[in-house]
Amino acid sequence: MAEPIVEARNLVRVFGGGRTWYGAKKPELRAVDDVSLSVQPGTTLGIVGESGCGKSTLARMLTGLIPPTSGTIRLEGRPIARLEGAEKRRFHQTVQLVFQDPLSSLNPRKTVSQILAGPLEALTDLDRTARRERVRALMDEVGLRPEFIDRYPHEFSGGQAQRIGIARALAVEPRLMVLDEPVSALDVSVQAQVLKLFRDLQERRRLTYLFISHDLAVVEALSSEVMVMLEGKVVEAGPRDRVFRAPRHDYTRTLLGAVPVPGRRRAA
Ligand SMILES: Nc1ncnc2c1ncn2[C@@H]1O[C@H](COP(=O)(O)OP(=O)(O)O)[C@@H](O)[C@H]1O
Ligand SMILES: [Mg+2]
Repeated sequence: MAEPIVEARNLVRVFGGGRTWYGAKKPELRAVDDVSLSVQPGTTLGIVGESGCGKSTLARMLTGLIPPTSGTIRLEGRPIARLEGAEKRRFHQTVQLVFQDPLSSLNPRKTVSQILAGPLEALTDLDRTARRERVRALMDEVGLRPEFIDRYPHEFSGGQAQRIGIARALAVEPRLMVLDEPVSALDVSVQAQVLKLFRDLQERRRLTYLFISHDLAVVEALSSEVMVMLEGKVVEAGPRDRVFRAPRHDYTRTLLGAVPVPGRRRAA
């Protein structure tokens, strides 16, 4: 096996705890509780579990937005805790996050051109004209018409807005994309189109995905490996087909039992 693109060991993230100013103990919540994972380049690890099980907290640690309480994260072999300067810049180029709610994650006062050129300006040496060319190419790649380059996010539908979010993540040529419920806010028909876009992009750019969702059907559609979380812990992990066809843990079976019959899925 190749070196994993990302590897996490015994990650713990505690919220709360400590004492208030008058000395009372504050309750402690282990949002992520001893999670280890390893993702091979070009594959997709699906992370599934119900709301509140710690998925987003895990995503935020893996993308460097919050530090773990304990445990280590290595990106292509390098521990991310100690990155500084140019190495830190490279880390943020390598790893990008796509959020659930496209509209609230895009600045409403910026045009698509400004939104997509921002990361290019911060992380590349391209001049203004070259940046605008790149923005058009990115829009085309995610299925947006380049002539909409000077429009604002609210002029787009939810699915199109998520494509802008995806293009923004792609702008800096990441190798790992952490997708946190990226289709959960979209209509079912639009979900399928955006999932297809993720699949096409992965093939074309050899991307590695960490794909987070509470929806098993969506995870099954995209993942090579699957990890099931419950209350901050991993209850089951393995190749997708093994986990879906022969679940070992009761909780996975319960989740699978709750998956609606294909074709009769309720709108999310
Ligand atoms: N910044 C925070 N401060 C305190 N508690 C938090 C914070 N972020 C998340 N939590 C708590 O951690 C748990 C896991 O949250 P989260 O990672 O968002 O779960 P998920 O993404 O699976 O829905 C929840 O109980 C949530 O309320
Ligand atoms: Mg979440």
